[in-house]
Amino acid sequence: MAGIPRAARAYIAGAALCAAGAAFPAFLPGSATPWGALALLAALYAFCEWPARCPLVGRVTGASVPVNAGSFFPVLLAAALLLPPPAAALAAVPGALVAGVGQRPARGLRRVWRAAQLAVAAWAAAHAAALLGGPAALGGDGGSSGPHFPYVLLPAGAAVLAFCLVLTALDGGVLATAERVPLAAAWRDLFGRSLAPHAVHGLVGLMMAVLWRSPYGWPAALFVLLPMYISCWVFAQYHRERAAHQATIRALVQAVDLKDTYTRGHSERVGRASVLIGRELGMDETRLEILRFAGTLHDVGKLGVPTRILRKDGPLTPEERRVIELHPEYGHEMVRGIGFLGEARAAILHHHERLDGTGYPYGLRGAQIPEFARVVAVADAFDAMTSTRSYSRARPVPTALAELERCAGSQFDPTMVGALVRALARHGWQTTVTSDEPAGRPPAPPPPPAPAPATGQGTAAELGAVPSPGRRRTRKGAARPAPGGGR
Ligand SMILES: [Fe+2]
Repeated sequence: MAGIPRAARAYIAGAALCAAGAAFPAFLPGSATPWGALALLAALYAFCEWPARCPLVGRVTGASVPVNAGSFFPVLLAAALLLPPPAAALAAVPGALVAGVGQRPARGLRRVWRAAQLAVAAWAAAHAAALLGGPAALGGDGGSSGPHFPYVLLPAGAAVLAFCLVLTALDGGVLATAERVPLAAAWRDLFGRSLAPHAVHGLVGLMMAVLWRSPYGWPAALFVLLPMYISCWVFAQYHRERAAHQATIRALVQAVDLKDTYTRGHSERVGRASVLIGRELGMDETRLEILRFAGTLHDVGKLGVPTRILRKDGPLTPEERRVIELHPEYGHEMVRGIGFLGEARAAILHHHERLDGTGYPYGLRGAQIPEFARVVAVADAFDAMTSTRSYSRARPVPTALAELERCAGSQFDPTMVGALVRALARHGWQTTVTSDEPAGRPPAPPPPPAPAPATGQGTAAELGAVPSPGRRRTRKGAARPAPGGGR
């Protein structure tokens, strides 16, 4: 269970206990649990979730089976409408335990978590439906009275809402304990994203339940699964495409890391720090994902800079400086055709602009600089100052933040700097050694309390990583000195 914080493990244990408590009454004498219907629904859910884990099915279908657990929630929502609450909780467990959980480590723990949260959510959904007379509104077995439309929509809607709320609350809790995501932000984002899909699942679940209670019985309910499976397959295609995008980004970042060994790991950390800032500013999850791309790819243009310049230890000549300052434009050229990067493309082009207009490549000032570029500029400078490299020792986080605050308003956007300060006060930051230089070559001593941005001529690595005041180029590419000197 390495990698899962202790608080998260305790939280998962608590959820598992709640799930056991919810399901336990089903075993009590006189509970009248409909074991036949329960076994059928549980087996159906497990059968639906299992193909994503089956290597044979994956090979036959080109690994395009619905891979995300949750594709078959309609079966659970049908169970919530058809079964008593303890039985509905039990129906979720086998499927959750066989479903793919994807990430390592602690897959076993993740499955327990999945089973516990689905059991509690199904139990809550069944209670909500029962409170509004769901079983009676569906009609008796064999369709003796038939479903009472449109009233049956009310308990079905309540079941969906309860299911979604409980899943969101539990997911938010685990995000807060495992990843220290602010609870309110996690709940807001999760609920906003999951309500619409759950409403669709609820309609399909209601359709299953109505057919189950029809004169044709449970075999008729199975026919609902085929169109549902097809829609899941379509969604799976989307997820595959998204995974391919992320693999492409990882490959680009690795190429940059290999080329510029001075700043290895820098890109990932800038992505992480950018997300911390964005989350503090209240950005939604969709924009945060793009912002992570922006931070991660901000220096991708270094692939177009000659390696000998990037790895040069001594001061750069003016010509070399001009070449290295082209990397934002190279990067923008490289990603221009990648539509899903959206705002990240502007951030790649403008991450070395300064608020006072002395940055590059275009010397934009203030609000002319795209918001993502202002975020990435702060994250970039912060990580550069707090990382130990062969040419400089890491500064303590408080020193780096003080330096960012000192440069706020002239070089950095004060809003972004303030957001980073607040985010780090909550989440902290682990400083890192990024250079892969031999151990026998110790890093330089800590710099004096000088400005955060590199000054003077600067080495190639400094110029690539730390925004600095310096020479800027006009739109036509001519270089001219800017206040502060340097790059
Ligand atoms: Fe850069």
